[in-house]
Amino acid sequence: MSSKDLPNPYSLVNLVDQVVLITGAASGIGRAQVELFLAAGASIVAVDINPDGLERLKELGEPARQRLQPQIADLSKAEDIVRVVNSAIERFGRIDVLCNTAGLLDGYKPSLDVDEALWDKIFAVNIKGLYRLTNAVLPGMLAMGKGVIINMASVAGNFAGGGGAAYTATKHAVLGYTRQLSYDYGRKGIRVNAVCPGMIETGMTADALSDRESKLLKVLTSVPAGRLGKPEDIAQISLFLAGQGADFIHGAAITVDGGLTIK
Ligand SMILES: NC(=O)c1ccc[n+]([C@@H]2O[C@H](COP(=O)([O-])OP(=O)(O)OC[C@H]3O[C@@H](n4cnc5c(N)ncnc54)[C@H](O)[C@@H]3O)[C@@H](O)[C@H]2O)c1
Repeated sequence: MSSKDLPNPYSLVNLVDQVVLITGAASGIGRAQVELFLAAGASIVAVDINPDGLERLKELGEPARQRLQPQIADLSKAEDIVRVVNSAIERFGRIDVLCNTAGLLDGYKPSLDVDEALWDKIFAVNIKGLYRLTNAVLPGMLAMGKGVIINMASVAGNFAGGGGAAYTATKHAVLGYTRQLSYDYGRKGIRVNAVCPGMIETGMTADALSDRESKLLKVLTSVPAGRLGKPEDIAQISLFLAGQGADFIHGAAITVDGGLTIK
């Protein structure tokens, strides 16, 4: 390939005129995705159950807000998912990229400490909500013959110990679902991938990381990267996966953990 055949590197992450639906948009990784995808030129449907966090997206200023549609929704409710997708289509006409980012942690509980209510709650958001939203968005993508889906898994999708029994089971399920989606719809123009973050400083991990002198924190920061992850670390790989540069990446589970799980 000669240099004149090389694509413009900036075009690889250019999302101008793209419509991106992001769940979990009110905080942490989802919020970082909203900010970065807006900066890349996309229009954003920002979905979350937390109205205050969605309200705080107003901080992003007027030009960005014109391309932003915040939507309060509980992803464990089928009717909320239908409403969100319908209003997104009404406002923007289509959804090009779906970031299934919202998730719930289970308090790191082993199975015997997980009652059925907790098990169902974690599954309802982390996997059933993700499946319902994907199925609501996929027909439009298939009709266009293109679309990108980015599912937020975890290192807990590959290993034990990154959550409790319910969380770990759902994140393993997210990876299986991602691969099957890719297998079934890749040839129809849909590119589906998962991201497996390590320990990222967000609301979800605030309790676990609150003791700055703890042994856990020492272990987590003695990784090759020498630090905890930031929401922006995960937003950046998400942006790359959404763009043209990731055209040949299908059904992958991309670990972004600072090296936490290399051994
Ligand atoms: N923080 C980490 O270390 C880490 C590591 C691996 C994977 N993850 C995954 O990344 C994703 C984002 O987590 P985060 O760390 O940003 O946590 P976070 O708690 O900051 O954000 C999660 C968001 O999901 C929303 N949410 C929860 N239940 C919902 C529901 N029923 N309907 C709609 N929205 C709902 C919350 O309101 C919140 O805004 C999750 O899927 C999580 O499992 C996080």
